[in-house]
Amino acid sequence: MAKKISRRSFFNRSLGLSAGALLTGRKGLSLTAGPGRIPLIVTSHTNDTGKKAMEAGWKVLLDGGSAVDAIEKAANIIEVDPEDTSVGYGGFPNEEGVVQLDASIMDGKTYNAGAVACLENIKTPSSVARIVMERTDHVLLVGQDALRFAVKWGFKEENLLTEKTRIAWLRRKEMMSDTDDWGPPDHLKDLEKKDAGNVPEVPPHGTTNVLAIDGDGNIAGITTTSGLGNKISGRVGDSPIIGAGLYVDNEVGAAGATGRGEDVIKSCASYYIVLRMKDGRSPEDACLDAMRMIIDRYKKINPNFFPSEKFVAINRKGEVGCAYMKGRTPRMSIRHSGGYSIHTGTVAFPD
Ligand code: GLY
Repeated sequence: MAKKISRRSFFNRSLGLSAGALLTGRKGLSLTAGPGRIPLIVTSHTNDTGKKAMEAGWKVLLDGGSAVDAIEKAANIIEVDPEDTSVGYGGFPNEEGVVQLDASIMDGKTYNAGAVACLENIKTPSSVARIVMERTDHVLLVGQDALRFAVKWGFKEENLLTEKTRIAWLRRKEMMSDTDDWGPPDHLKDLEKKDAGNVPEVPPHGTTNVLAIDGDGNIAGITTTSGLGNKISGRVGDSPIIGAGLYVDNEVGAAGATGRGEDVIKSCASYYIVLRMKDGRSPEDACLDAMRMIIDRYKKINPNFFPSEKFVAINRKGEVGCAYMKGRTPRMSIRHSGGYSIHTGTVAFPD
């Protein structure tokens, strides 16, 4: 019969620390002072909102809350930030000017998962995904039906387009249009093109992953996004696809993806990363393995094409890692008993 491990001895055992090295948190939860990484919460977001999200999620863990509660709290903070044009409220719209959100959640303890795709008018898609996970026997709800489901559960319908994204979308439509009737009259189009430098930047993709381990050693993750800017209406990225944008296994760890969802879906990248960790690879090496797999596949088809993913991962020991395709610095936010920090990961280069 499995021996029951108390929370305190769990910390001591997993970290190899003496009782003297422990601090006492709220509600008597013991926390590690040294290099320990459990409890732990991480996100791919490294801006101020990412930091705020980590502090809020950390507080949940510190209070003895579950990994699922902590990641939802943290993800909601990023989702409702109107300045963030890649996730939730204020996310960049699709080609028709409509914000369509994707999100997933997975609980490594129960092997449960929930997701929503093309969800409109709800600021916190990860919370809707959580209800799909916990209150239905399904995994993924989409579009207008996902919206109806959310409204039934009491979520408020709101316009997700901010002034900033509405104007950016209109401006881009005008400035980038060579072939349709948007923009100035034909005889002025060339002149207007000179102003093209002022076209607002459309995030090619954004997304956030939030992964956590709670004081009981349970692991959970969320991936949430407004997806590719200017995507075709109805396009679903990797974020709500379990195994692609997110995967969690209590026995191993968790992984999440950001970047071009099409590549991530075709490679089942998050599942692959968790499998690599199961084989003994560190989180960072496992992320790099996934990069390498994608690079190698495209290399055979078109050596000039280079994909644009970033992966983050944690393992059950509380180790972390991230990797990015070349051209960007891979970074992730980490919060544990040692405080908040940003980890710089490894860049994957083509051969
Ligand atoms: N990774 C987000 C997306 O492609 O939709």
